[in-house]
Amino acid sequence: MEHLAGKVAVVTGGGAGIGLALAHAFAREGMHLVVADVQDDVLAAAEVELRASGAEVLAVHTDVSDPDAVDALHAATLERFGAAHVLCNNAGVEVGAATWELNRAAWQWVVGVNLFGVVNGQQSFLPTMLEQGEGHIVNTASLAGLLALPFSAPYTATKHAVVGLSETLYHELALTGSGVHVSVLCPGWVKTRIFESTRNYPEGAAPPETEVPVARLVEEWAANAVNEGIDPAEVARQVVDAIKAERFWILTHPEISSAVMGRFKAATNGDNPRAPDIV
Ligand SMILES: NC(=O)c1ccc[n+]([C@@H]2O[C@H](COP(=O)([O-])OP(=O)(O)OC[C@H]3O[C@@H](n4cnc5c(N)ncnc54)[C@H](O)[C@@H]3O)[C@@H](O)[C@H]2O)c1
Repeated sequence: MEHLAGKVAVVTGGGAGIGLALAHAFAREGMHLVVADVQDDVLAAAEVELRASGAEVLAVHTDVSDPDAVDALHAATLERFGAAHVLCNNAGVEVGAATWELNRAAWQWVVGVNLFGVVNGQQSFLPTMLEQGEGHIVNTASLAGLLALPFSAPYTATKHAVVGLSETLYHELALTGSGVHVSVLCPGWVKTRIFESTRNYPEGAAPPETEVPVARLVEEWAANAVNEGIDPAEVARQVVDAIKAERFWILTHPEISSAVMGRFKAATNGDNPRAPDIV
């Protein structure tokens, strides 16, 4: 989709971080925006600042883990703009803990948002895009979709799943000659509030307490790495380029590639895993 002006972009988790940067990048392209987020204060602030930039904006409170809410987001998009051309399934959350410390509520929350959030977006919006004969879905995975991050089992599992389901969809669309396209976004560290995700933890479900000292150290280290990460605007620039070029893989940090190659080389050699150098 080379020309984005006048087209409609939907961004989940669009109130902050990478999602907000995506919305700004689409606004600069002259797109109409639908911004969805579960956190009302950031959603309201995003709506105001995006509108001030001159874009037409619809803000919709949405919990992406709820299929009815994502259906309602789809219906609101069509009612307001009559079409949906770009969908960024971007909302995501992280809980850092050792596997044996995680409770079921933590697993359900991360799987609900990171995996079912993407599934729900595809289920609600793909039929419209297929009918239009045009559209582009950008599913946000992570470097944790290509490497296994210790003390992040639900995050690693869901991001691997997002890579897998996106690549499957890519094949299906290509084999059926569809005009709809898909990309998978695998960023390294980006300067956002991802390591404060539990601010949106569902009421009544306590996040796990991490007692393993090394888990706490890794969390602290990862939070620092995120603070020194790249600007979300740079990620958004690469996403816009990938949509225009119909490129599937969006790896924002070229230095990840050698770690990914090392992992698959070890697997095919039958060597035991080594923790990625980034940890
Ligand atoms: N920051 C990084 O280093 C990094 C690296 C790789 C991948 N990612 C991925 O990028 C995506 C965006 O994260 P970010 O880094 O901008 O984090 P962030 O925490 O700054 O922003 C995430 C946004 O998603 C919203 N959100 C949370 N739960 C939601 C739900 N159930 N429904 C709808 N919205 C919800 C939050 O309110 C927030 O506005 C995530 O999928 C994350 O896993 C981030």
